[in-house]
Amino acid sequence: MNKYLIIGAGKLAKHLEHYLKFLDCSVTSWDRSQDPHLFNSKLHDATHILLAISDSALKNFYCKYLDGLEKTVVHFSGALHVDGMIAAHPLMTFGPQLYELEMYRRIHFVLTGAASLQTAIPDLPNSFSLLSSEKKSLYHALCVMAGNFPIILWQKMFFEFEKLGISTEAPRVYLEAALKNSLQNPQTALTGPLARKDRTTIQKNIEALENDPFQEIYLAFVKTIAPELLTTEPLENERSL
Ligand SMILES: NC(=O)c1ccc[n+]([C@@H]2O[C@H](COP(=O)([O-])OP(=O)(O)OC[C@H]3O[C@@H](n4cnc5c(N)ncnc54)[C@H](OP(=O)(O)O)[C@@H]3O)[C@@H](O)[C@H]2O)c1
Repeated sequence: MNKYLIIGAGKLAKHLEHYLKFLDCSVTSWDRSQDPHLFNSKLHDATHILLAISDSALKNFYCKYLDGLEKTVVHFSGALHVDGMIAAHPLMTFGPQLYELEMYRRIHFVLTGAASLQTAIPDLPNSFSLLSSEKKSLYHALCVMAGNFPIILWQKMFFEFEKLGISTEAPRVYLEAALKNSLQNPQTALTGPLARKDRTTIQKNIEALENDPFQEIYLAFVKTIAPELLTTEPLENERSL
């Protein structure tokens, strides 16, 4: 029988313990608030060590306490690779609120240093992909951009809408449709002045954000996606016949 020891008591550690208990696994945990002697006995009993601690502490902790042990050691960082440890990055966001079992089952794992998720955490039925250690930095940058950056834009919208007297509930259906369309068909989901190559509206939007740091963000998107819209050269759709 597999015996899991989760190290850490942060956000991921709590979700992981919850999920493994849902699946009826043998699981225990240790964190720095517990007696260090307990660490040795729990370590001794475990077959799989799940190192759910901060990225900055992973390498030191592994080298000091886990290197050379006849145990499977797994960490969960999407950005780091540490020789000797398997990385099983859950493509998910974990906050203080625990999820339903079905949600945990749907999480996709991205693995480095193992041939399958079953090698790392044998009781997990989740889907997984394999990724080489050299590709991790790019992979993680993409996760951060796509998973975190839209939240910054939504927060800005809610904040400014409130000042304009528009409720934060108002854009719900708009944002839900944007996400749904992006997931259903990313190629055709983009609408608005960038998709229409509407230079006049884009110019007005940029002017409306004068003295706002988000003007730089707007400009960066246009520069990246359609830099020709910031020049004075006539566009294909503006040329007279
Ligand atoms: N949260 C997410 O959405 C998410 C998603 C995917 C992957 N991950 C990965 O999951 C791992 C944990 O992230 P998290 O979000 O759970 O972080 P977190 O909530 O900040 O928790 C960090 C945990 O690490 C412990 N820790 C830090 N330094 C330590 C050390 N030197 N020795 C022992 N324990 C130490 C902390 O213990 P103390 O409380 O004693 O300081 C705390 O229990 C990271 O590798 C992260 O990249 C997180």
